[in-house]
Amino acid sequence: MRTVDIIHSKRDGKELSSEEIAFLVEGYTKGEIPDYQMSAWAMAVYFNGMSARETADLTLAMARSGDQVDLSSIHGIKVDKHSTGGVGDTTTLIVGPLVAAAGIPVAKMSGRGLGHTGGTIDKLEAIPGFAVERTTEQFLAQVREIGLAVVGQTGNLTPADKKLYGLRDVTATVESIPLIASSIMSKKIASGADAIVLDVKTGRGAFMKSLDDSIKLAQAMVDIGTEVGRETVAVITNMDEPLGPSIGNSLEVLEAIDTLGGRGPAELTEICLELAAHMVRLGGKADGEAEAKELVTRLLDNGEALAKLKQFIAAQGGDAYVAEDPARLPQAAHRVDVPAPEEGYVAAIDAEALGITAMLLGAGRATKEDKIDLAVGIKLFKRVGDPVKKGEPLAELYINREDSAETAEMMQRTAAAFKIASAPAEKLKLIYAVIT
Ligand code: URA
Ligand code: CA
Repeated sequence: MRTVDIIHSKRDGKELSSEEIAFLVEGYTKGEIPDYQMSAWAMAVYFNGMSARETADLTLAMARSGDQVDLSSIHGIKVDKHSTGGVGDTTTLIVGPLVAAAGIPVAKMSGRGLGHTGGTIDKLEAIPGFAVERTTEQFLAQVREIGLAVVGQTGNLTPADKKLYGLRDVTATVESIPLIASSIMSKKIASGADAIVLDVKTGRGAFMKSLDDSIKLAQAMVDIGTEVGRETVAVITNMDEPLGPSIGNSLEVLEAIDTLGGRGPAELTEICLELAAHMVRLGGKADGEAEAKELVTRLLDNGEALAKLKQFIAAQGGDAYVAEDPARLPQAAHRVDVPAPEEGYVAAIDAEALGITAMLLGAGRATKEDKIDLAVGIKLFKRVGDPVKKGEPLAELYINREDSAETAEMMQRTAAAFKIASAPAEKLKLIYAVIT
């Protein structure tokens, strides 16, 4: 087999065989196929696409390119959840305990935030003492014991994806549905999931800006799951405004605690119950969606999900009393209101701009090496559709640095993320579609 012939076939729009795809992925991972050939192939895929079968083959080849987590010592159907990334997206901290309380084992590897989106691992580190690094044996033992563990990625998972994603980033080949779908699904499969629930964000704060593209991506991932025997459901959710009102690590942990305590923001609660219900159904703990929704709603209302969160925090060395006393979380030194510049109705909130502002405040990283401040962030007081009076706070900044010029700039950026119109604006739809 010659790499040039494979590139030639894809350039001419032909379907590659399973052997050809395995040859490419293995050769590239080992360094036998150079970047220039792999980038020519990625560009050919960008223009000509891949069939569902090719996409599934690519996914499996990447999943098998490195370590694979063996969850077979954990009893039951392991259901994983993945979000394509958003702003103020605290769902894992809520959904994990919720489905674990329903008896679904959750063995989750999560990432850190980069750019305008946050990451679960950073949020967990806001809890004093919480350890995100665990040996594989500790990780598995914790899931067997209490049904839930969330750790940073360990081992050499999907090196082929890591290398290819880096290459795509600099060759303008990121925006290809089969390449994105296989990249995401390869990591879930290597992490050992039997079934997968995907939260595909769409809108201004999301990776996929248009609903049409988001549906195509969701369908491609569900097709991969079907093709490789891991039942997959995708929920397409709105990221035209931040999901919950809190953006920032400590603030989002508090928001998760509030939500599990039944005092959470309505929209965040609704999406978490939806995602949890799909996980519970795939995990075989309920017959049908209605029964699954009823079960997770009950576990939220009766406090069992919050109790699971506390048990999980304690198991990973964290201070579980943060659930009763949020002042134990890192606290920002100052709070500053951001007043509305005019009267009217909130017509739009730019989630991406707020994610960037939170990052600039110190809540996130511009580069992988940046240190973050767990206490800082933004709390929003208004959602799209809400009326506002002039001077009324739209949001509050949680800050640590005493730099009046910087604070003024951050206030300005936050205010500018709100579009205020004189005519009443409609509330945004929260869930657009469920793809099964
Ligand atoms: N996220 C991924 O993990 N892979 C992609 O290709 C795009 C987004
Ligand atoms: Ca939030």
